[in-house]
Amino acid sequence: MANKDLRDWISDLEANGQLQVVSGADREEEIGAIVDIYMRQMTNPAVMFDNIPGYPKDFRVLANILTSVPRINLALGEDINKSEVELVDYWRKYMKDQPTHAPVEVNGGPILDNVFEGADIDITKIPTPKWHEHDGGYFIGTACMVVMKDPDSGWINYGAYRVQSHGPNTASLMTSKGKHGDIIRDKYHAKGEPCPIAVVVGMHPALFMVAGLEMPYGKNEYDSAGGLLGEGVEIINMPKTGLPVPANAEIAFEGYIHPDDRIDEGPLGEWTGYYAGGATTQPAIRIETFMHRDDPILMGAIPAVPPNDDTFYRGTYRCGAVWNQLEAAGIPEVKGVWAHEAGGSRMWLTVSIKQMYGGHSKQAGLIASQCHAGAYANRWVIVVDDDIDPANLNDVIWSMCTRCDPQDGVEILNGCWSTHLDPMSYSHEDPRNSRVVVDACIPYRRKDTFPIVARNSKELDERIFKKFGDVLPK
Ligand SMILES: Cc1cc2nc3c(=O)[nH]c(=O)nc-3n(C[C@H](O)[C@H](O)[C@H](O)COP(=O)(O)O)c2cc1C
Repeated sequence: MANKDLRDWISDLEANGQLQVVSGADREEEIGAIVDIYMRQMTNPAVMFDNIPGYPKDFRVLANILTSVPRINLALGEDINKSEVELVDYWRKYMKDQPTHAPVEVNGGPILDNVFEGADIDITKIPTPKWHEHDGGYFIGTACMVVMKDPDSGWINYGAYRVQSHGPNTASLMTSKGKHGDIIRDKYHAKGEPCPIAVVVGMHPALFMVAGLEMPYGKNEYDSAGGLLGEGVEIINMPKTGLPVPANAEIAFEGYIHPDDRIDEGPLGEWTGYYAGGATTQPAIRIETFMHRDDPILMGAIPAVPPNDDTFYRGTYRCGAVWNQLEAAGIPEVKGVWAHEAGGSRMWLTVSIKQMYGGHSKQAGLIASQCHAGAYANRWVIVVDDDIDPANLNDVIWSMCTRCDPQDGVEILNGCWSTHLDPMSYSHEDPRNSRVVVDACIPYRRKDTFPIVARNSKELDERIFKKFGDVLPK
């Protein structure tokens, strides 16, 4: 049976009222501007653009894809109504169990509907938007998979790295130092060889999610994506490089990055909501084969002022990792972790615990701020009691306002792990930052004498919802 593809997910979105179609928006500013407006609320649907001026009417663009927990639930084949913390728990189990299915090589697939080589290659046939006003060009690869093969071990890696379109047969790649794609490319160039590369744009969102998650070095992302989908990913091998791409992808191209072949790149808005990285030169991709399905769909995941496409699935996955790492460090009774969407999934973390002893909440906060999954580019860690839903910002702030004594509830930590993309890091050369850990739990010594909360108990809520559920707000 063929794998589910992007079009199956789009049908699921439509069936669940999660898709808005917009016709006639142009790629210069209107598509990007409309996506920006849609990204501001997590209740907004995904947006599909058709009838894009200057392009065949069914060459489409899909964006605002994973900016909501229900759409992530659908992509994972889960109940659409699972809550934020239930989704975090899903990722926790995925990380612990590490399910895998090896990819399955097939003879053909819809990606081969249209195949171009030599002078016929023209990636500008795809309507590629300028996503934000200050972007330095058109980025065909945002929600993409960049596939490479380790020249020594044969390990196949794929990751989501931004890819800018520079004309019919040229693109560029931006990999941060230490990313697996960066390491693999450098290995070819150290031998004086060109680096083979394939870029895939438009695929089932589960495949894209894995592209953006930090899988361990040496682990094949196709195996992990198969684990998410519950079956092996059907792949074909690209004709020149032999690199595997999903047989039902929308758009794919392959080519080579030659040593010392660089091109002006960027800027592109970033996940923190700023342009801190600026324009630079980056490796050029010289394209040798280009292919797309009939009526292809370019999928975009746009870094911007959060919440953005990074925020929710990476945030919920990261929360699962922080939760697991807190437990591994010996912190008992963690009840939830939430990375608030405004913090781009990294800069704000809320941890809820059932307090067991004096100092428990302080310990949980300090470790959350420094464990591997929580430390990078964090600014605020808030620890709340287990009666507070960490994903409900109103209740988190109420807790900070009423349960925190700033004199001993607030710690400021200096010299912590960050990135030059953090606009408040010390400098580009020394990209560390400072951060705050807030203990917003009822002081343990007052746990039996603290004032009673003036809100329905859970039990009263349940009785009332049972009797008056049809007239009550959900
Ligand atoms: C939408 C999106 C865009 C991204 N853009 C980049 C990028 O341009 N460069 C980069 O190094 N990482 C980027 N990342 C982060 C990487 O995808 C992420 O760190 C991933 O784990 C990299 O794969 P790797 O662990 O195999 O290197 C992006 C992630 C997402 C979700």
